[in-house]
Amino acid sequence: MIVRSSRYLDLEMPVHLLDSFLTPVDLFYVRNHLAQPSVNLPEWRLAVTGEVERPLELTLDDLGRFDQAAVANTLECAGNGRALHRPRVAGIQWVRGAVGNAEFAGARLADVLRRAGVKATGKHVLFDGLDEPPGKVPDFQRSIPIEKAMDGDTLLATHMNGAPLRIEHGFPCRALVPGWLGAASVKWLIEVRVVAEEFDGTFMKPGYRFPRKPLEPGAEVSADEMDVITALPVKSILAWPADGAHVRKGPLRIRGAAWAGEESVARVDVSVDGGQSWKPVRMTTGPARYAWCLWEYEWTPPEAGVFTVRSRATDSSGRTQPMEPAWNPPGYLYNAVDRARLYVEA
Ligand code: MTE
Repeated sequence: MIVRSSRYLDLEMPVHLLDSFLTPVDLFYVRNHLAQPSVNLPEWRLAVTGEVERPLELTLDDLGRFDQAAVANTLECAGNGRALHRPRVAGIQWVRGAVGNAEFAGARLADVLRRAGVKATGKHVLFDGLDEPPGKVPDFQRSIPIEKAMDGDTLLATHMNGAPLRIEHGFPCRALVPGWLGAASVKWLIEVRVVAEEFDGTFMKPGYRFPRKPLEPGAEVSADEMDVITALPVKSILAWPADGAHVRKGPLRIRGAAWAGEESVARVDVSVDGGQSWKPVRMTTGPARYAWCLWEYEWTPPEAGVFTVRSRATDSSGRTQPMEPAWNPPGYLYNAVDRARLYVEA
């Protein structure tokens, strides 16, 4: 893994290792804003509080007694691709690999909320994790609207790829808000609080917001001109070639992944001639809501030289990756057509 920060662990997947539908947990990116907590399971409880008729305190065994559901979901950090923005922006310089696809499983949040009985005043659900900030640093807390919380695919996940969550991914229980930015899926959950208003703590405002209107690269924007980020946009990445790769002339296999938040990927096209012509790829995994698909494209370069390989995904709602990214000061949601220079030697 590429270590982007070791003070608070931030690990990026090297994308050339991306070649399976489910990302092995060892390769799954890690994004921690604060120090990873240690969990004492006998003492751990999940409290369901706020605008509910019957507040709950659940153990891990209690959660296991709810009906269990599984969702294959591509989790991506909103800052993935930040390093590719020009002008450059501050923050963790993720390139392509702050993304992974896993099968998350656990109780449905809706079932737990129904047991607690959401009052009519309950419009948002606030998640709090066990990680504690030092000094005056704000706590990592975020909310989602009640509609998304009551969606049958939103989970209190206790498992990832068939095994209990590892500590770095939120053991013993994390929110799994499928199709949305990774920050929505709060780890090491200790409290689910039903609230009347959207939460406006640091990680909701000014954090994790995106300008409502397109900006000139380098322009300034205030938090009030930005909206809270929810579902992810459509995006494809090249797992091979890496930018600057050298190969001998001969048949090649260009490959990558594509995802589209709450939508599914409809098609991916590849260009090897500077974006003049595009050819559809072969999907090697089926289209799925929330989960990425893997794709490949066989190509024999006609001659030695320098080529620019591009990939462009389109989703089931008709959204297509733009040629240029939507620049924004925090560097979120980079989803421009991916590109890599390839040196073909005779
Ligand atoms: N939950 C807590 N409690 N603390 C955090 O720092 N990081 C969030 C989210 N949940 C975070 C958290 C962010 S920004 C992302 S992108 C995802 O977790 C990353 O999940 P992962 O580390 O399992 O890949």
